[in-house]
Amino acid sequence: MKRIFSGVKPTGHLTLGNYLGAVRRWVEIDQHRSDALFSVVDLHALTVEHDPARVLRLSRQAATLLLAAGLDPERCTVFVQSHVDEHTRLSYLLECTATDGELRRMIQYKEKSVRAREAGQSVRLSLLTYPVLMAADILAYGTDEVPVGDDQTQHVELTRDLAVRFNQRYGHTFTVPRATHPEVAARVMDLQDPRSKMGKSHENGAGIVYLLDEADAVRRKIMRAVTDSGQEVAYDREARPGVANLLDLLAAATGGDPKTLAGAYASYGALKKDTAEAVIELLGPVRERHAELAADPGEVERVLRAGAARARELARPLVDRAYRAVGLLPAG
Ligand code: TYM
Repeated sequence: MKRIFSGVKPTGHLTLGNYLGAVRRWVEIDQHRSDALFSVVDLHALTVEHDPARVLRLSRQAATLLLAAGLDPERCTVFVQSHVDEHTRLSYLLECTATDGELRRMIQYKEKSVRAREAGQSVRLSLLTYPVLMAADILAYGTDEVPVGDDQTQHVELTRDLAVRFNQRYGHTFTVPRATHPEVAARVMDLQDPRSKMGKSHENGAGIVYLLDEADAVRRKIMRAVTDSGQEVAYDREARPGVANLLDLLAAATGGDPKTLAGAYASYGALKKDTAEAVIELLGPVRERHAELAADPGEVERVLRAGAARARELARPLVDRAYRAVGLLPAG
């Protein structure tokens, strides 16, 4: 059976981008057709300045939201990355496989390190090595497929390169994984700045729909979305990114095709209104289920404990094999 791994990092509240680009597919498709693991990758939240209490809160919230969105612990493994030591154990071996040059070429490193410096903050070394830990997350489980949004493509490419290089040097150890993306909404854009990705940690939340936003907030944000100067509704991601983003959202929420939907609208206002209502309908049940689960944190903890135990069991033998392959003396 195919093995799938993916994760979400608790650096902010989960967004509509996380949901449409990743989580919804994990729920609707991946957990049903494969042996799938989904992780709240909390160690990745420490690569930029962080507030410990906030990371703790967001980790619990992200895990609760994954279950609220419909991940079923009877069908898949849900766990928190820091509960399974094999990730950091393997990460070190992969640091000894990766090069300084290839990590410095990572787009997210370039962007985030510039941002940190501009804010007068130092750049943590882990921001540079972050994609290696991500590669370890994936390779530790013999993963075949990694369902992610578009922004993770470069990281999965690096993971593939590291797996191939390791296998060539030390003998076949890792499965070489591939990224998969949703057909629509693989890159949801910020509603106020439609040339930038809708990200959890954008300074200004006006262009971000959070999964836990109330219906009124969702409506307000979508109705105020920046569109383009034209009048006619057409699907053109380059020339009209704001309108194209709304059409992507509507298509993702209703199961339609963005280009076909464009023909059904004569004004931006009507498009915004329908998009807002479709997104509200999509997120409502997730928010309701989240409230129920949040009232019973013991249940979420139980799921995470069982998930970590299973993840450890899967990763341990593979990571042990990698340790032996590079020439480290077995512990016993
Ligand atoms: P993160 O936490 O930024 O995002 C989680 C998932 O949501 C997708 N996503 C989006 N998709 C469409 N439009 C958007 N605006 C949008 N924003 C986020 C991301 O592509 C991702 O699939 N490095 C990863 C976390 C990670 C991981 C892993 C993922 C760590 N280890 C191993 C897969 C496998 C990240 O920062 O995701």
